[in-house]
Amino acid sequence: TDGDVITLIMVYTLCLCLRLSGEYCKVNLCHNGGTCVTGVGEDPFICICADGFGGDTCNLTEIGPCNPNPCKNDGSCEVISPTRRGDVFNEYICRCQPGFEGMHCQINENDCAKQPCKNGGSCRDLDGDYACQCPSPYVGKQCQLRCISLLGMEGGAIVESQISASSVHYGIMGLQRWGPELARLNNQGVVNAWTSATHDRNPWIEINMQKKMRLTGIITQGASRMGTAEYIKAFKVASSFDGNNYVTYKADGQRRDKVFVGNADNDSTKTNLFDPPIIAQYIRIIPVVCRKACTLRMELVGCELNVYSNTAGCSEPLGMKSRLISDAQLSASSTYRTWGIDTFTWHPQFARLDKAGKTNAWSPAHNNRSEWIQVDLEKTKRLTGIITQGAKDFGVVQFVSVFKVAYSNDGELWSTVKDEKTGNDQLFQGNIDNNAHKKNVFEPPFFARYVRVLPWEWHERITLRMELLGCDD
Ligand SMILES: *[C@@H]1O[C@H](CO)[C@@H](O)[C@H](O)[C@H]1NC(C)=O
Ligand SMILES: *[C@@H]1O[C@H](CO)[C@@H](O)[C@H](O)[C@H]1NC(C)=O
Ligand SMILES: *[C@@H]1O[C@H](CO)[C@@H](O)[C@H](O)[C@H]1NC(C)=O
Repeated sequence: TDGDVITLIMVYTLCLCLRLSGEYCKVNLCHNGGTCVTGVGEDPFICICADGFGGDTCNLTEIGPCNPNPCKNDGSCEVISPTRRGDVFNEYICRCQPGFEGMHCQINENDCAKQPCKNGGSCRDLDGDYACQCPSPYVGKQCQLRCISLLGMEGGAIVESQISASSVHYGIMGLQRWGPELARLNNQGVVNAWTSATHDRNPWIEINMQKKMRLTGIITQGASRMGTAEYIKAFKVASSFDGNNYVTYKADGQRRDKVFVGNADNDSTKTNLFDPPIIAQYIRIIPVVCRKACTLRMELVGCELNVYSNTAGCSEPLGMKSRLISDAQLSASSTYRTWGIDTFTWHPQFARLDKAGKTNAWSPAHNNRSEWIQVDLEKTKRLTGIITQGAKDFGVVQFVSVFKVAYSNDGELWSTVKDEKTGNDQLFQGNIDNNAHKKNVFEPPFFARYVRVLPWEWHERITLRMELLGCDD
C-alpha cells in the first residue's frame, strides 16, 4: 500500500543518513527508552540512556546519595569515596555556589559581611549577591566611581540653544538683555547672568542635555547689577525625559518638594548634591525666594548614563531562554556532533539557558580559542551582563570556565570587552559545573547589536548555555 511505500522510503532515507556516521541497532538492546547506536568505537553497540538510567544497557537506575541532588542553591553534589565514610555524617558533600554555605548550601551567606560598598554606600544582602545604595556623587556596583563631571555651562559644552527660560529681564531702556544663555558659572562682564522678568510670577530656567544624563549636583551663583547683589536664595528643581512631563525633585523618602538653599551674595558659589541623583534629559531650576531679582549663574555636575550605569535598572533577560531571540539570530563558528551523529548535533540554537534534553547546549567542532557563538539582537541594545551554564554530554560534565566577550554593530568590526584597569581583554570567570548559573556583569555596560562569547578555558568540551542581560536604550 501507499503507507508501506512511504514507510519504506523513510526507513531507507534514515539508513542513508546514518551510514555516514553511526547507525542505529537493528534491534534496540537498550532498556528504559535508551537509544542504541552501532559503529562507534570498539563496542558492537552503545546505549545512550535516558535521564536517570545508566549502565551498558540502561538497565541500572541512577540512584545514590547525589541522585536526586540534595544540594540547594545550585550546589553540586559529590559522592565521597568509601574510605572517608564514617568521619562525615553522610555519603556526599555539597560544593556550594559563592554566597551560600552549610551542609546543603541552604544558608545564604551575608554577602555584606565583607563590606563591599565603598565611600559610605549602604549594603543590601541578596541571594548570592549584594546591592549597594550609594551616596551622591558615587555610583557603580560598589560605589567606587565618582559621577562628578562639570557638564559644560561654564566650559561651553552646553550651547546657547540648549538653555531656555520662562522670561528675560531687559535693563537700561531695554538695552541690556539678561538672557538664559548668560547663566554660566563665573561669567564676567556688566551683563553676565540670567535674570527673569520683573512681572514673571513663576520663573524657571531650563537646560536640555540632549540625552538622558545622570545629574549628581548643581553649583549656583548670583551676580551684581548696577552695584546691587541679586541672587536666588532658595530654589526647587524639576526634571523631565521628554520636555513635556516634569517631576519636581524630592529627597529620598520625602513627599514634599525639596527646597535647596541657594546663594547669599553676588559672587560666592553654592554647591548642592542630588541624593539620589537625577536621571533626566531636561533639568529646570525654579527660583522660590530671590533677593532683588531672580538672577543666576550656574553649573551642572554629573556624568553620562551609559558609562556609570546602574545595572539594576537594565538587567532584563534579552530572550535566550524565553526565545524572544529566535533561532535565526543565533550562529556559531562550528557545531559538534556526538559520535558524528546528526541527531546529536550541539547547535548554537540550543545555547539557551536551562534548555533541557539530550543535546541541550552549543558545542563547537573543535576545542580551541578560535571558536565563538554569536547573538544578533537585531537592533542596538545596552548590554549589562551575561549568565552562562554548562551541560552534560551523555553523562560527561562539560562547561566553559573562562571566556571573553566581543561585540559589534555591523557584524564585521569587533571590539573585545576590556578590563577597565589593565586595558587587556577582560577574562570572565565562567562555570564550575554543568548546571549552575554563573552571572557576570559588564562594567561599564556597552551598546551593541551583535554579541559574541569567545570560550577561553573549558572542562572536557566547550559547552555553553547562556542568557544576555540588558535593555533597549
Ligand atoms: C543489566 O544488564 C546486564 C547485561 O545486559 C546484566 O548482566 C545485568 O545483570 C543487568 N542488571 C540489572 C540490574 O538488571
Ligand atoms: C560682589 O562680591 C564681591 C566679591 O565678594 C564684593 O567685593 C562686592 O562688593 C560684591 N558686590 C555687591 C554689589 O554686593
Ligand atoms: C582550531 O582548530 C581548527 C581545527 O583543528 C584549526 O583549523 C584552527 O586553526 C585551530 N585554531 C587555533 C587558534 O588553534
